[in-house]
Amino acid sequence: MAQILVTGAHGQVGREVELALLQAGHRVVAAPHSALDITKPDHVLSAVLDSKVDAVINAAAYANVEKAEDESSLAYSANALGPRNLARACAQAGIPLIHVSTDYVFSDRKHAPHQEDDPTHAECIYGKSKLDGENMIMAAGCKYLIVRTSWLFGRFGRNFVKIMLTMAQERRELAVVNDQLGNPTPVRPLAEALVKMTECVLDPDFSAWGIYHYCGYQPTSWDEFARAVFAEAQRMEVLPHEVNVLSISSSDFKSKAKRPQDSRLDCTKIQEVFGLTIPYWPDYLGEVITAYVRERQGLPPVTDYDPIDLSAATTPEQVLVSNAPGPARLS
Ligand SMILES: NC(=O)c1ccc[n+]([C@@H]2O[C@H](COP(=O)([O-])OP(=O)(O)OC[C@H]3O[C@@H](n4cnc5c(N)ncnc54)[C@H](OP(=O)(O)O)[C@@H]3O)[C@@H](O)[C@H]2O)c1
Repeated sequence: MAQILVTGAHGQVGREVELALLQAGHRVVAAPHSALDITKPDHVLSAVLDSKVDAVINAAAYANVEKAEDESSLAYSANALGPRNLARACAQAGIPLIHVSTDYVFSDRKHAPHQEDDPTHAECIYGKSKLDGENMIMAAGCKYLIVRTSWLFGRFGRNFVKIMLTMAQERRELAVVNDQLGNPTPVRPLAEALVKMTECVLDPDFSAWGIYHYCGYQPTSWDEFARAVFAEAQRMEVLPHEVNVLSISSSDFKSKAKRPQDSRLDCTKIQEVFGLTIPYWPDYLGEVITAYVRERQGLPPVTDYDPIDLSAATTPEQVLVSNAPGPARLS
């Protein structure tokens, strides 16, 4: 059993990572934004050193691609300085950092799945800030895994699947972009993959540090993704009516952030090094739609999940420790 610090623990990925760690028998120091702001170097250092963890998984980020265009300093603080602070703290503690990054570090110059060592070129503030974060981790002198992933949809938090379902409650036709290609990625298997990778790096003989790609099989466009969501929701009888998806081009979609035209990721390396299998993303639509329905009924998205009670944990020095699903206690 290892003890792992999870930052951004109340985000879409952070929640699933905490659950996956607990299910694998590990002890989790779950640090949501309210308990640990990763932009504060002193707080990060004391959280890493005081919690005596074996590794850190960073699921914290400023992840709103559109808003980042107007809030670039917030985006750079969370996505670049935050990972730098974590990496420096991990270097000082002598423990590995497992960091989640994004396909948006690529632009549309390669019309094939991107490999880890392909040249990066981010075009929006979110992508640029995440790329800076990667570079700062690599410069910090810690042992690290950077795991780039894409188009996440999970049971917790907000994502494309839930947004489509919400919009479909009141509309029979939705216009969705058809000229951006990427790989939808279900968050639950991503979290399980991060746990397996963390277990591997805790082996003293592990040496394959670096950047990895992890995403769902197979690539698609946003409009096809939306059609798959509605087909599954229809099959599950959770939509009040049929929804027609109208395909439009990016130029017809009002957006400040320039998104990559083709951000497909090649996952060969992560499969070879860690023996992971890549999830067929349509298989996971059902559980995310079920989570959406439960949330609309005022229930937690997952049946056996009790949200952590944060009422006592409002100062940055405080981190939460849990070793079983359910309310955590302060360390
Ligand atoms: N969502 C996607 O489609 C996608 C695709 C590729 C890669 N990723 C990457 O996946 C990772 C997780 O994203 P996600 O989808 O889980 O996003 P999310 O649901 O927005 O979760 C991010 C969490 O980080 C927290 N956070 C923000 N600033 C922080 C700070 N300064 N210190 C500590 N915590 C902070 C947020 O808290 P508040 O909400 O309270 O601010 C939130 O709980 C990120 O690295 C993201 O770049 C996401």
